[in-house]
Amino acid sequence: MNEELRMKRAARFAGHEEEDFALRPAHVQAENFSVFYGDFEAVRNINCAFPEGLVTAMIGPSGCGKSTLLRAINRMNDLIPGCRAGGKMVFDDEDIYRRDIDVVLLRMRVGMVFQKPNVFPKSIYDNVAYGPRLQGIKNRSQLDELVESSLKQAALWDEVKDRLPANALGLSGGQQQRLCLARALAVKPEILLMDEPTSALDPKATTKIEDLIAELRGKYTIIIVTHNMQQAARVSDLTAFMYEGVLVEFGRTRQMFTKPKEQQTEDYITGRFG
Ligand SMILES: Nc1ncnc2c1ncn2[C@@H]1O[C@H](COP(=O)(O)OP(=O)(O)OP(=O)(O)O)[C@@H](O)[C@H]1O
Ligand SMILES: [Mg+2]
Repeated sequence: MNEELRMKRAARFAGHEEEDFALRPAHVQAENFSVFYGDFEAVRNINCAFPEGLVTAMIGPSGCGKSTLLRAINRMNDLIPGCRAGGKMVFDDEDIYRRDIDVVLLRMRVGMVFQKPNVFPKSIYDNVAYGPRLQGIKNRSQLDELVESSLKQAALWDEVKDRLPANALGLSGGQQQRLCLARALAVKPEILLMDEPTSALDPKATTKIEDLIAELRGKYTIIIVTHNMQQAARVSDLTAFMYEGVLVEFGRTRQMFTKPKEQQTEDYITGRFG
């Protein structure tokens, strides 16, 4: 996304109070959307909108379809044999499952951070420069600038600025996860998908990632899967509760955690199952 559009979005966002959430335009929207693994319908007829600039948490018991739905938003499920989608996933007025969609471009616009940091066995610098190089950026000073700004955004710059040529595998788990975030940010995505990004991290590294999410809020549309209720409550504006492939409840986080509408949601967040 170009900087001008990003600034416009951020400015519009700054003017919005919590009460206006429902008025915010959808950035990506599922319409009668399903995902099948063979005959098994793992995600069932979902209808929901993820508003731009907000943080949405996806919660629900193991196997309920959170990762499947998340991966559907940048067509990562395409890589799984036998997996197919039904219905629409509309991103900026286009169904991303249309045949003529450029999936490589889509994945640049919709970045992803996984549960386990998946750094490339390359230098710290090359990890961050990877996406921009794929985008055709060759100019060294432009790359340097992108690497620096992305690492700063991911709050990793100070720790690695003197060792950019070192292998990324030599970083700690928490540092590797922030490197993955920097790598995702380097291609200037519009949406950031995060699948349990802190489940492999200690509390201190977890806090760092949560602080980052708070800083990125407004500039990016963020969808985060988490098993940690406190985390969902801390970082998100909206929460989606899924159960057995169905989207049971979707609403403001504060309301969901204090006055859920559905009994199943209440049972889950109070720890009665899952
Ligand atoms: N590659 C696959 N092939 C077949 N079935 C799959 C595949 N991946 C996931 N599933 C099934 O789809 C359902 C949803 O899985 P998914 O990984 O989306 O759940 P999840 O909510 O992310 O769970 P967890 O919290 O454990 O990560 C499960 O029943 C799972 O077994
Ligand atoms: Mg999962």
